[in-house]
Amino acid sequence: MLNELQDLENQALAALEHVQDEDALEAWRVMYLGRSSRLMQVFGELGKLSKEERPQVGQKANEVKKTLETALASRSEALRRMALERALSTERLDVTLPGRPFARGRLHPDTQILRELYQIFREMGFQIYRSREVETDEYNFQLLNFPIGHPARDMQDTYFLDVPGRGDNPLLLRTHTSPGQIHAMRALAALNPEDPPPVRMILPGMVYRYEQVDARHETQFDQLEGLAVGPGITFSDLKGTLSEMARRLFGPQARTRFRASYFPFTEPSAEFDIQCFQCGGKGCAVCGSGWLEIGGSGMVHPVVLRNGGYDPSRYTGFAFGFGVQRIAMLKYGIPDIRYFWENDLRFLEQF
Ligand code: PHE
Repeated sequence: MLNELQDLENQALAALEHVQDEDALEAWRVMYLGRSSRLMQVFGELGKLSKEERPQVGQKANEVKKTLETALASRSEALRRMALERALSTERLDVTLPGRPFARGRLHPDTQILRELYQIFREMGFQIYRSREVETDEYNFQLLNFPIGHPARDMQDTYFLDVPGRGDNPLLLRTHTSPGQIHAMRALAALNPEDPPPVRMILPGMVYRYEQVDARHETQFDQLEGLAVGPGITFSDLKGTLSEMARRLFGPQARTRFRASYFPFTEPSAEFDIQCFQCGGKGCAVCGSGWLEIGGSGMVHPVVLRNGGYDPSRYTGFAFGFGVQRIAMLKYGIPDIRYFWENDLRFLEQF
């Protein structure tokens, strides 16, 4: 039996030399180490052997098993290395292969229109000033000449923050970018309180209103505020600035109109509209009436100038504030403001 085991080992090792792939290796394993191999049978027959033979045969069988298992493992490793070398030796780099295209993102239509507006106002000498989205009642209303209980507060349905102990000065999400006027003027006036420098700023940012959402109203939208303060600034400076903006955005044929209006922080005040360039003023899904209401404007109220640190007997100023999405809708022919923040790729990929 010992001889038989030795023969078995020799035979198996010889056969292993000829194994060239994974399948053959598996067949070899089944044949020499599998459950019905001769070697496994020997283990099964140990019990029938005499007391003297049993330990010798048992030990030899174990040795053969270990030898074959080790040989199997190293053959398997050798096969793997050979396969790799074969693959590497035939691999070629095709330098003429075109690169794989990758999906590129793009700028949101909001970002695109804002950047265009920054450029237009930069060329007219305006700087960008940003201020906070969480405001106090004082900055959002009181300093802008809306005292507590003023009926004009109803024009801007407000999200208040539930922070106790703030009395008449609750925190809120700003309903417009106009509180930035006070921040900007105070920051500049602090530089030279006796003789504050002139202001020419745009103030972009998100604003929040408790609105009934529809095609032209959202609870959150961008405004672009503008503020110019200096000696001798007039209403015609305001009209010139906004008409020029419309021409640069929509081309030389663009028309604007001003309608008398009311805001507590400007006097006189005007709404301004831009003629719809999608339909040429005839009326369409984007504009409704042929004109799109863009925003409010006016001459900065003396109370507001004073609250900003500017003496209204020496300075005048104009301000405007409009909805950025309204401009984007007009420019790109977008009929519904709700598309802007739905993040639907079918919409976003068109820009
Ligand atoms: N803040 C006003 C609004 O949101 C717009 C406005 C800005 C009007 C500046 C006049 C001057 O309705």
